[in-house]
Amino acid sequence: MSEIKILFTREQIAKRVAEMGEQITQDFSGQTIIFVGILKGACIFLSDLARSVQLDATFDFISCSSYGKGARSIGEVKLIKDLDQSVQDKNVILVEDILDTGLTLSYLKKLLTAHQPRSMKVAALLDKPSRRVQPVKADYTGFEIPDHFVIGYGMDYAERYRNLPSIGVLPPELF
Ligand code: IMP
Ligand code: MG
Repeated sequence: MSEIKILFTREQIAKRVAEMGEQITQDFSGQTIIFVGILKGACIFLSDLARSVQLDATFDFISCSSYGKGARSIGEVKLIKDLDQSVQDKNVILVEDILDTGLTLSYLKKLLTAHQPRSMKVAALLDKPSRRVQPVKADYTGFEIPDHFVIGYGMDYAERYRNLPSIGVLPPELF
């Protein structure tokens, strides 16, 4: 049985997330922001990113299910948990673990824009541009990767592996 192949170590992730945090700190200097994490995959990334941002910040979380991955109705995204607070007039940073087809983010961006935030940016730790179906881009990207199914650092396969501190590629026999 082959092992999980490590793509990014804990140290590599920490370094990149710290850089993203510094960039956000600069870009929003003197302002307050709200991190909106997309459950559950983004929770570990959000907790590290938020701690590398030196601004007055609050958190909120949103959850949705996507039916775009398997053979089923492509493109359908459903909201499971809405925001707790209004984002009207706020600087929103939508935090996502991985940007894949873009269906989830384009749906959520539309949804949040309707609440008239002051600004809205997307921070995605990983980006698989070759998989894109909707033309959505992240404003802050950690790493671009090829079309691999990755796990760890919040990301799962069938709800497992979220607690791995590094990011790896799942070998086919573990699928
Ligand atoms: P999208 O709507 O296709 O962009 O899907 C984004 C969501 O799919 C992410 O938030 C992840 O939850 C999940 N996802 C996409 N690719 C992967 C992967 O390689 N590993 C784990 N989850 C993934
Ligand atoms: Mg997700």
